Amino acid sequence: MLKGILNFAHYLLEESVNPGDTTIDATCGNGNDTLFLSRIVGTNGHVIACDIQQQAIDATRQRLVEHNRFNVSFIQDSHARLKKYINKDTQIGGAIFNLGYLPKSDKLIITNGESTISAIDIILDFLKQGRLIVLVVYHGHPGGEEEKNTVLKHVMNLDQNDYNVVQYGFINQKNNPPFIIAIEKKQ
Ligand SMILES: C[S@@+](CC[C@H](N)C(=O)[O-])C[C@H]1O[C@@H](n2cnc3c(N)ncnc32)[C@H](O)[C@@H]1O
Repeated sequence: MLKGILNFAHYLLEESVNPGDTTIDATCGNGNDTLFLSRIVGTNGHVIACDIQQQAIDATRQRLVEHNRFNVSFIQDSHARLKKYINKDTQIGGAIFNLGYLPKSDKLIITNGESTISAIDIILDFLKQGRLIVLVVYHGHPGGEEEKNTVLKHVMNLDQNDYNVVQYGFINQKNNPPFIIAIEKKQ
């Protein structure tokens, strides 16, 4: 009955995104979310896939080619610098972050609170009203707790006149289970 974390993240993206939208995967990793967004925006839509690691960009690019999806552009840089790459008139239909490290890779290359909150604020400026930024917060690894606290503090202080912010997670699971933060830009 209750959706798992990744299912719920995709459910929220589907609620937010319409065919033809431009969307952002701010941590594309192995490309799971990029592929999902690529499908829901359709051939007239667009996904901006960002990751700081070459390995992640390569893996995502390959994954998209394998699925014959060509509506994605790639940015190998920190999402804290996303503003440099987005046309000022672009309106974003939805965005996702998966925080933490790339699975089966260098566990020292992790997202961090400061750059994550910079990226959230950049994307909020471009986000259409009534749409969502979805964050999947992994926090069991070294550095994860600090990032979790920084991000929670930031989003809890977003003005309630402008944003709805929710947290979704399983509170009876052990070992620091991931949870979701979703930010809706109000109409
Ligand atoms: C949990 S993984 C993402 C998993 C991905 N969504 C997938 O479907 O496979 C987190 C990713 O964030 C990336 N990352 C870390 N710091 C970053 C930053 N400042 N800007 C963009 N990406 C970053 C890592 O390289 C890693 O690939």
